[in-house]
Amino acid sequence: MYVSAAAALLALLPPLALSHGLITTPPSRPAGPSLVANCGAGVNTAITQDNTSYVEQLPRLAAADKAYNPAKCNLWLCKGLQFADNPAANIQTWRAGQTVPLKIWLRIPHEGIANVSVVDTKSNAVVGEMLKVWDRGYAPGKSEKDVPLAQREFSVTVPEGLEQKCAVAGDCVLQWWWFGTGAKQTYESCVDFAIAATSGYKERAFTS
Ligand SMILES: *[C@@H]1O[C@H](CO)[C@@H](O)[C@H](O)[C@H]1NC(C)=O
Ligand SMILES: *[C@@H]1O[C@H](CO)[C@@H](O)[C@H](O)[C@H]1NC(C)=O
Repeated sequence: MYVSAAAALLALLPPLALSHGLITTPPSRPAGPSLVANCGAGVNTAITQDNTSYVEQLPRLAAADKAYNPAKCNLWLCKGLQFADNPAANIQTWRAGQTVPLKIWLRIPHEGIANVSVVDTKSNAVVGEMLKVWDRGYAPGKSEKDVPLAQREFSVTVPEGLEQKCAVAGDCVLQWWWFGTGAKQTYESCVDFAIAATSGYKERAFTS
């Protein structure tokens, strides 16, 4: 019994020398009690030990956990991190056309592809055009300083047309997605936001 407990603990430890990353500006969704409730303690432990770690280790941990509720824990969207765990102060309010500066912590690089998009959290479908795409050459090198600054600090423009779909925080996320093609590992980090309503007065003023 001791042996199986030790093996279970070992299975929870993150493997070494893998690529890792996270959005640090604006603040991204953290782990919390809703993650434990919906994804299970194993997923929570893996993420809290290293919140920049990859998705592929998580399905196995989730499947071994009685708490895992696939309807509420989508590991392939924001790594299963839950809107309810994101403090209100982290929720961004954006307007169409606004420029949003992002900073990525690329703790351990691994060259691959990446993108940034708005995702509808109910359907896990990208909404509209990708806001940013690197179709190769993302996060090369051995340490963070090898990664071009433009891949770690850049801006996206809040698209038009999200005013209804993304009016309520939690319905959409801004997701940074990265896949290390050599390591075959996926990283996801999400910012919660709501699109501010455009006042009817302004719209009329514009069109008249
Ligand atoms: C990620 O972990 C670092 C510590 O390693 C911590 O400073 C940071 O607040 C965490 N961020 C999130 C979004 O969980
Ligand atoms: C962009 O990100 C999505 C995840 O939201 C991923 O499934 C897709 O393959 C990526 N596409 C490109 C062109 O990078």
